[in-house]
Amino acid sequence: MRGIVLAGGSGTRLRPLTLAVSKQLLPVGDKPMIYYPLSVLMLAGIKDILIICTPRDVERYRALLGDGSALGLRFSYAVQPEPAGLAEAFVIGADHIGDEPVALVLGDNIFHGAAFQQVLREAVRQLDGCVLFGYQVHDPQHYGVGETDATGRLIGLAEKPARPRSNRAITGLYLYDPDVVDIAKNLRPSPRGELEITDVNRVYLERGRARLVDLGRGFAWLDTGTPESLVQAAQYVTTLEQRQGVRIACLEEVALRMGFIDARTCRRLGEDMGNSAYGQYVVALAREHGA
Ligand code: TTP
Repeated sequence: MRGIVLAGGSGTRLRPLTLAVSKQLLPVGDKPMIYYPLSVLMLAGIKDILIICTPRDVERYRALLGDGSALGLRFSYAVQPEPAGLAEAFVIGADHIGDEPVALVLGDNIFHGAAFQQVLREAVRQLDGCVLFGYQVHDPQHYGVGETDATGRLIGLAEKPARPRSNRAITGLYLYDPDVVDIAKNLRPSPRGELEITDVNRVYLERGRARLVDLGRGFAWLDTGTPESLVQAAQYVTTLEQRQGVRIACLEEVALRMGFIDARTCRRLGEDMGNSAYGQYVVALAREHGA
């Protein structure tokens, strides 16, 4: 399976923070925002990851993440000239996807919760068409919304509906079979001028091949799009990290636990980060694993 992190957009709600730098490079706690969605793809077992960003920021992403080999991964980069919609990711990423299934994650989405790796693994294993992940929110009118029947089966999808038929938001993580490329290429822009991911999902729904996995109330799906939500996300991450002494979305740790790198490599990566608490955490972890 291939992965895509969509990290473009204009970040208007975060100005002036985003006037000179991409939203997904801003800090959430002690690491850049894009680490969180990257860790999701890694937990799903994905190693080939395309990062799509604005032309302005692509060199900064390259400076931060390189070619991925340090983490046992393969990163490539593509630019989205304008924020023309989430579904454009599949047009830009067509060659990257080829004839493999693909997971798309939005670069500003944070997922955290118990057994997430198993949830991902199951969803990947059972992928037949598309898998969407639903999350209960109090303000569904601001999101893509999924309507389910009494058995939890997905029966309707709406993009930012004025009168939502459920409180299930569709989160920014999507799994698709390779048909998604052709579906995206055949979309027309919506009235707001974007290639809408909800329209892609609707095609799968009409074909009877869209499934909704509910993330449940014990799970955290956090938004980082406004100054307030960015601070709240940082507080959530920092509170959990300090309480438990473990880190959320530490890429070196995920790579080690997934078997993408060995303990010695992990230790070297930690040491490269000097005396930061993050670096010390990575070194301590590598030691625990025998390095
Ligand atoms: P949004 O939060 O909808 O948009 P934005 O990030 O541009 O922010 P704002 O509303 O404040 O202007 O986008 C969700 C995510 O998808 C975010 O990570 C940016 C990304 N995105 C793209 O990369 N390309 C696009 O065409 C769009 C619409 C979003």
